[in-house]
Amino acid sequence: MKALDLAGCELGVATAATQIEGGDLDTNWHRWARAGRITDGSSPARAAGHWERVAQDTALLAELGVRHYRMGIEWARVEPSEGVWDEAALAHYRDEVAGLVAAGVRPLVTVHHFNLPGWLEDAGGWLNPATLAHFDRLVTRIVTELKPWVSEWIPINEPNVYATKSYLFGEWPPGERSLRGTLSVMSALAHAHIRAYLLIHRLQPEAKVGSASHLRVFAPVDRRNPWHRASAAITDQLFQRVQLRAMNTGRFGLPLRRPAGVRPGRYYDFQGVNYYTRSTVRSIGDGVATDVDVNDLGWEIYPAGLIEVCRWVHAAYPAPIYITENGTCDNTDAFRSRYLYEHLAQIAASDLPIERYYHWCFTDNWEWVEGEAARFGLVHTDFESQQRTVKDSGRFYADIIANQGVTEAAHARWVAGQTYPTNKEAR
Ligand code: BGC
Repeated sequence: MKALDLAGCELGVATAATQIEGGDLDTNWHRWARAGRITDGSSPARAAGHWERVAQDTALLAELGVRHYRMGIEWARVEPSEGVWDEAALAHYRDEVAGLVAAGVRPLVTVHHFNLPGWLEDAGGWLNPATLAHFDRLVTRIVTELKPWVSEWIPINEPNVYATKSYLFGEWPPGERSLRGTLSVMSALAHAHIRAYLLIHRLQPEAKVGSASHLRVFAPVDRRNPWHRASAAITDQLFQRVQLRAMNTGRFGLPLRRPAGVRPGRYYDFQGVNYYTRSTVRSIGDGVATDVDVNDLGWEIYPAGLIEVCRWVHAAYPAPIYITENGTCDNTDAFRSRYLYEHLAQIAASDLPIERYYHWCFTDNWEWVEGEAARFGLVHTDFESQQRTVKDSGRFYADIIANQGVTEAAHARWVAGQTYPTNKEAR
């Protein structure tokens, strides 16, 4: 007996290079860590030590029955200084994807996931128009190297999150607070996505290319308050809809500006959705409702939102949907299985073409400014010893994959006893 049936949706896990690889590199994030900007004082130089443990991690994916793996590329490894390519690093990535395919795991590769090499950050990053050409060259190189094994690509992860955290709120490198800068980075990233889409299809006509967009539900704090309603709608537009439209269609609505040479078109083969939470809004910005279920970072747990965002995305940009990230910060694995179950239940019950689901994250990883203190993994990472231990939620996920759904027995064993924290409790 199945508690839910996931026929039609293939299950995988996701990671990002800077968050798992480790290594003493010169990236925007290694610099940010050196500047003391990480809450727990940790650095991506350690992370999950994946660079040295690729074979072990691939074997673990296979052991868990995972057949889809979203992974990233560290730009600073493959091009440590401008125009200088590190052949050994490229060979390492080739071996990694070849090893995945040999183990029966299909890679989906993200080229840019919040990470810039130091030399490019020095040159102004995405504020510098020359970065587009650098990114074109990176995409060309990576696709040429990896295309014997990879045909699914995400040029850029969550451009809206990167632009706002790095250029509006100043929380991420380079720590700027400028609306003008934010808008120009949003436009540049959409432009870079469109160029990469066209480029990848020239290099590999059968490729499937999409974005991985961070999408949220923005709900007014008080639905009867017109100011709250308007603020929620405006935040929704500015944070996500305008950006998504530009990337998907080449139509740059206000306040973005259409870059010269971009033609309206269809720049996606699938819609990648990263979904985590709902925000409540009373003025432009975001917040969290009270008396709701929350994770260990205080983000509301709102499974219905997964389908709410997929529904509007699909109506606007019909294509197969890949949930390219979904997961939660649960430091003791106390409620991750319930979170998984409730989000997958939304997929099972929906009529949308959700063809993939990638759980974030495979192992505990280095969580940007939260460092090692926020655990999202199905597999526990001991950051000191780099020992991996499959969590209960990881066992549950392996069981879901094996059964292409959740059996009654699995529900009783892993889900039934779990409850979420609520944000009434002092945390
Ligand atoms: C990002 C990941 C991050 C996750 C959890 C997403 O916004 O793509 O890199 O670890 O959220 O915060």
